[in-house]
Amino acid sequence: MQTAFQLKTYDSRNGDLPPLSAIQQEILQLKKERNAIILAHNYQNAEIQRVADFVGDSLGLSYCAEAAKDAAAIVFCGVHFMAEVAKIVNPTKKVLLPVLEAGCSLADSCDAAELAAVKAKNPNLCVVAYINCSAAVKALSDVICTSGNAQKIVEHVPADKEILFVPDQNLGSWVMRQTGRKMRLWPGSCYAHILFSAAEIRRARAEFPEAPVLVHPECVESVRECADIVCSTEKMVNFCRESSAKTFIIVTETNMISRLQNEVPGKKFVAGPTANCACNECMFMKMNTVEKVRDCLKNMAPEITLPEDIRQAAYIPIKRMLEWSK
Ligand code: 13P
Ligand code: SF4
Repeated sequence: MQTAFQLKTYDSRNGDLPPLSAIQQEILQLKKERNAIILAHNYQNAEIQRVADFVGDSLGLSYCAEAAKDAAAIVFCGVHFMAEVAKIVNPTKKVLLPVLEAGCSLADSCDAAELAAVKAKNPNLCVVAYINCSAAVKALSDVICTSGNAQKIVEHVPADKEILFVPDQNLGSWVMRQTGRKMRLWPGSCYAHILFSAAEIRRARAEFPEAPVLVHPECVESVRECADIVCSTEKMVNFCRESSAKTFIIVTETNMISRLQNEVPGKKFVAGPTANCACNECMFMKMNTVEKVRDCLKNMAPEITLPEDIRQAAYIPIKRMLEWSK
């Protein structure tokens, strides 16, 4: 029989940051010399977040990448599709990704050729694509959304249009529930978010009965049903900041807690458990390390490149999203 593991809890840092390491200092120096900015996703580890100019969710990072007019280069600390978005919205910039192989299981679950075949058979479908997809899939889509604006984007699509939502069936079914809008769902999912366990989250609730449960919409329905709020990573920061609760159960990639520890003082965060483990990290996000960020700035590589026709076609639905979600 499996023995119950101990839940992992983290206290706010309350401004109590360790001194910068030699590598972090080197990164800051190189960043200056190269006139680069570092954008980091909420799932990056604390050491990387510390040297970033901006830390946020996919939506915030897209706006930031678009607005990065003065920098010569963008170092994107996240996964491949996120760096592609930066290149799509800001094509004259050099966009660097510390590890080119940092992919995403969700993006991989939707193949552009397969989507093109579905569209050819159903020419009237309106394709709403979650930003976690390749540039080639974006190029075939009508509008992009993130977990932060998916509901708003779907509500914007004219009611007489049939929607195909790609690639995340879990975010898609959550949006259907919120909007009452029926959609066709692509059968993709995030390998990490589907590991969270409703039974273990109920156990966490029993241990911390006063703690609100915050769940990312990429989780399966039984886990979303445990939530006090289902939201994007950015909304988690706002929720914890504004709530009077002292403890929060955070059901998303565990490094999210690092940002919360920095930005929400005086609180405790419990990592959402899976069936077997007290934490849950995205192996793709974890490919990035401070050493890789330093090397990437030193070598100004690896760089994201895209065929211009794909880039231009992918920009149309992203631009639509950025306008619709203002
Ligand atoms: P956010 O848009 O909430 O940052 O989520 C991105 C992601 O990859 C979740 O797994
Ligand atoms: Fe992709 Fe899941 Fe990792 Fe997010 S957590 S980048 S959806 S594999």
